[in-house]
Amino acid sequence: MAETAPSPFTPGYGKKPAIFGGHGEELTELQAVFDTLDFGENHSVLASGLRGAGKTSFLTTLQDAARDAGWLVISDDASAGLMGRVMDSTIPALINDMSPDSRARLTSLGVGWISADIEYVSRHRNVKPQLRSDLVAMSSALGASGGILITVDEVSSGKVRLRELSRFALQISHALEDGAQIMVVFAGVKVSLEALLAEEHTTFLRRSREVEFERLSALETRRVFAETAALGGRLIEEDALAKLVSLSQGYPYLVQLAGDYAWRNNPTAPTITLTDATVAHDKAIKAVESRVISRVYGDLSEVDQKFLNAMAEDDDRTKVADIVRRMGVSDAYVQVYKKRLLDSGYVHAAGHGYVQFSLPYLGAYIRRQIAAEASAGGSDGGWDAYPAPTLPS
Ligand SMILES: Nc1ncnc2c1ncn2[C@@H]1O[C@H](COP(=O)(O)OP(=O)(O)OP(=O)(O)O)[C@@H](O)[C@H]1O
Ligand SMILES: [Mg+2]
Repeated sequence: MAETAPSPFTPGYGKKPAIFGGHGEELTELQAVFDTLDFGENHSVLASGLRGAGKTSFLTTLQDAARDAGWLVISDDASAGLMGRVMDSTIPALINDMSPDSRARLTSLGVGWISADIEYVSRHRNVKPQLRSDLVAMSSALGASGGILITVDEVSSGKVRLRELSRFALQISHALEDGAQIMVVFAGVKVSLEALLAEEHTTFLRRSREVEFERLSALETRRVFAETAALGGRLIEEDALAKLVSLSQGYPYLVQLAGDYAWRNNPTAPTITLTDATVAHDKAIKAVESRVISRVYGDLSEVDQKFLNAMAEDDDRTKVADIVRRMGVSDAYVQVYKKRLLDSGYVHAAGHGYVQFSLPYLGAYIRRQIAAEASAGGSDGGWDAYPAPTLPS
């Protein structure tokens, strides 16, 4: 029997895909900046989109390209303590990895405080180090050989301390004003990025390049399946490919899951067949439900959920007027929630006065949840009828 080749598909959050579908133009343009330092409009980038649509993978792809081009990379997420982590550990580590030449230049610029193996008298530095001045000094030390890429992932309303993030952004904007060669990329759901733009000190971000992550086009989806399998040395038969494309609906996480299951069904065969794709179908949809869709749904507020429940009564698109009726609330109220859900990317407009689920299978998931609740006799699995006894005190 032939050796079982490892699957080249990469299901899992933050796993950089072997073949990156979509956003070719943006990647090419941003990667060109790493080589030329000719930034144009690309000093700041906002990457927004659905869960599992590829924001983190996009950041990783940029980071790898930046490092290859000799840039320094600062990557973190927007959770509390960002500034401290960057100042106290990321920047020191970057400086320690620099060439002795660049480090010597840094010392003369006043950032040598960090490096134990460089002779340095810390009295030069009588103020607390600031991100702004470190960035400017590091950028000058790099000179024409590179810039600094800063990526901040997970800008999502729950965890974000927008105040802290805006202070971080302010330091970057000052460093940019001082001429530092920086590209900064923030990634998160759209509503949170908008909240960030509304903060003080973040006006420079309004000129950002925006990259939106939605599902891939059908053509790109085909390419990702075929080229990823080819990297692993296998061909996907045409009918199997059509099935995989259609079941994934271009949703990146699902593309990787489906490809992976199809690959593993019969990994020593030279081609991936319709049988493999059919087996992958059920498994992939189950997995995406538990790993993605249930999380998406659970993240939403109760009213958002009610809105989606009202949508799920229809198989295809839903008339907004029907949502108003089903929820039993005012039109204005529904409009507010409609806008929120459109901004979050889970729902899109489908013709005048209609909305539709953007995330494949979200509607089906909700319908199944509602049916399960109904048959279990209530939302709590039937426990309403069996209250816990009061314990004697
Ligand atoms: N452009 C792409 N082409 C093909 N597959 C991709 C692409 N981008 C991401 N993927 C795959 O999709 C999955 C999810 O990617 P990723 O974790 O980057 O999404 P995300 O948008 O950061 O999700 P979240 O919002 O939950 O953090 C991974 O399995 C990854 O390999
Ligand atoms: Mg992510």
